[in-house]
Amino acid sequence: MTAVLTGKTALVTGGTSGIGLAVVRRFVAEGAHVVVTGRRQAQLDAVAAELGDAVTVVRADASVPADVRALFEVVARRGTGLDVVHVNAGNGELKPLAEVTPEDVDTALATNVRGTVLTVQGAVPHLVAGAAVVVTGSTAASGTERSFGLYGGSKAAIAAMTRTWAAELAPRGVRINTVVPGPTETPGLTGLVPDGGGDAFVRQFAAGMPFGRVLRPEEVAAAVLFLVSDQSSGMTGSELLVDGGASIA
Ligand SMILES: NC(=O)c1ccc[n+]([C@@H]2O[C@H](COP(=O)([O-])OP(=O)(O)OC[C@H]3O[C@@H](n4cnc5c(N)ncnc54)[C@H](OP(=O)(O)O)[C@@H]3O)[C@@H](O)[C@H]2O)c1
Repeated sequence: MTAVLTGKTALVTGGTSGIGLAVVRRFVAEGAHVVVTGRRQAQLDAVAAELGDAVTVVRADASVPADVRALFEVVARRGTGLDVVHVNAGNGELKPLAEVTPEDVDTALATNVRGTVLTVQGAVPHLVAGAAVVVTGSTAASGTERSFGLYGGSKAAIAAMTRTWAAELAPRGVRINTVVPGPTETPGLTGLVPDGGGDAFVRQFAAGMPFGRVLRPEEVAAAVLFLVSDQSSGMTGSELLVDGGASIA
């Protein structure tokens, strides 16, 4: 089968772990050069060691404007423009309403909302005609998982922003869609519960899923690849649900 991204340049934020790392590996396997971001240098170094010349790693906190500016200076220096962007950097924590502080609100919005705005805004001047952008949402945006209100709210904002940006970017020939994963086995998911409780947390999710298991990051990456490929040329401003059937369980 022909590689889908041969000769293309992609950016994946939060590409050193979990879903983002699976996307980076898939994009590279499909022939792309991938600019990969994250905050931890050791994780970036591991990605560079694994994928070599196929990636450019850049330490950048998506919520920090100076970091995002520096990231796009690296992109500009490559001189190829961007064919594909996956705005994936994100995080959350479990916090019941009664315990939420004003600082928690700022933290919840910093990467997921401010980071998404800064990244898409920064990418726009570099997007080639026909480029595709995917933003990572979450089923928490429309779910009722306890203690996930702030996180779900931040992801609902992402879906709303993506819809309006789709209309703004369409005249440039750019598509933007949201991938909406359900529970996916990643360090991000297991890390929500401290002191090694993550595995039990994942088992609890799995028990409520139709196939008795949570998603694998590669299954979300396959959906992201679809959204950045010509196979989805009829889609913009859409939300693609990849939840292992959780919503019908
Ligand atoms: N796993 C799930 O069940 C699930 C379900 C629905 C949606 N999601 C979403 O999917 C995305 C990936 O989650 P994951 O589960 O794969 O998490 P993960 O394993 O923790 O990976 C998160 C990635 O994002 C990076 N990151 C976090 N904050 C960042 C920031 N401010 N700036 C730059 N990079 C940042 C992390 O690296 P550093 O920490 O080094 O920065 C890491 O590379 C997130 O947007 C998450 O909300 C996950």
